[in-house]
Amino acid sequence: MSTATTTSSTSADRSEAARAFLADFRSMSTFGATAGGGVDRQAGTAADGQTRNWFRGLVEGHGFEVRYDAVGNQFALLEFVPGAPYVAMGSHLDSQPLGGRFDGAYGVLTAAHAAIRLKETADGAQFNIAVINWFNEEGCRFKPSMMGSSVFTGKLPAEQVLETTDPHGTTVREALESIGTIGDFSLDVAAYLEIHIEQGRSLEDNGLTIGLVESTWGANKYEFVVHGEQAHTGATVIADRHDALFGASLLVAAARDIADEFSTDEHAVITSCGEFTVFPNSPVVVASRVNLLVDLRSTDPDILAAADAELHRRVAAIEERARVGIERGAEHVWASKAYDASGMALAAASAEKLGLPYGTVRTLAGHDSTNMKDIVPTIMLFVPSVEGISHNEKELTSDEDMLAGVDLFTEVLGRVVSGGFVDVTASGAA
Ligand code: GLV
Ligand code: MN
Ligand code: MN
Repeated sequence: MSTATTTSSTSADRSEAARAFLADFRSMSTFGATAGGGVDRQAGTAADGQTRNWFRGLVEGHGFEVRYDAVGNQFALLEFVPGAPYVAMGSHLDSQPLGGRFDGAYGVLTAAHAAIRLKETADGAQFNIAVINWFNEEGCRFKPSMMGSSVFTGKLPAEQVLETTDPHGTTVREALESIGTIGDFSLDVAAYLEIHIEQGRSLEDNGLTIGLVESTWGANKYEFVVHGEQAHTGATVIADRHDALFGASLLVAAARDIADEFSTDEHAVITSCGEFTVFPNSPVVVASRVNLLVDLRSTDPDILAAADAELHRRVAAIEERARVGIERGAEHVWASKAYDASGMALAAASAEKLGLPYGTVRTLAGHDSTNMKDIVPTIMLFVPSVEGISHNEKELTSDEDMLAGVDLFTEVLGRVVSGGFVDVTASGAA
């Protein structure tokens, strides 16, 4: 079988392609740039819209067509074989507030560059290509995270997502309309590929350039609302208080204690509270309400279930001690689950061919591939994060590692579009 790989490119082509990638990465990083060297491109903001428009211009300049679906997922389509099924790949261009330049954005740009490189040499292609910039992977302005890919994979209804509001009452629909990236496009895809920075230190610690992601950790996220009674902090005696902030603080501490108590040598439990909003948040006022998000993760489903049960068991004791009511709101849960083993083998063979040191890793963080792997065969790859730092303006991946990831991703994509992963005859028409 002929393959659509890049074996025929010369070293001059490769260094030109590498320069082009790094130049585009630098341009992309100017959108929403922060003083500390990161980016702030929360979903549906002007900065997110500018990045999306820049990306649109980039890929249209290389012959892609750009479309949007009902929840703002951005599809860049490259047709090799009219009527053939699509292989999709991508990640996200939105970021956390004061986030890093690499989280998500590296994967979208790598997918686009891999497709551009392949376009020159895609003689054996059996599939078309869609690069997807998923809407709102981060879930900071609008909850939950992985929103666009959750709708695409049927886990969330589009209507519910469009009516979801940010803390100021703006809906997803309004935000998407304001940046002009909403449409009615839809696409069936045969397979999905994603590359991302590791956001942990295992690759760096082990001297590896490439991580083949073998499975996700399980994660349970809960929105809690602690209800108390507003009062004067000086004039209200302790016995009369219903302090929502005290109750919420006990819940944060309980989650942390559970991580320590339930972790084993083999299976860690990781818990956090990343978001905590106090009402009315005024110096001389006992808080009437706190909204917080508690997140529990583990590689082992039974340990995660036991830790989760313990958190909920402790809620009743906290309610009694702080004399507050604790309401559990929306949840966002995903299971510890494996990625496609044949995809890992394909990626391993590709890394060997390119002489890149690789190993298997599990992903603690959620990604759009966490959703996509549940509906189509999926390959997920990592490149190293310096010191594992992420969701931080100091997030860093070296140019060398970024470029190794682009080379590998191009090789993997070439094998996939030439039928090395999923069978075109079994994939149906687009
Ligand atoms: C991503 O959504 C994560 O929570 O890791
Ligand atoms: Mn990400
Ligand atoms: Mn992130």
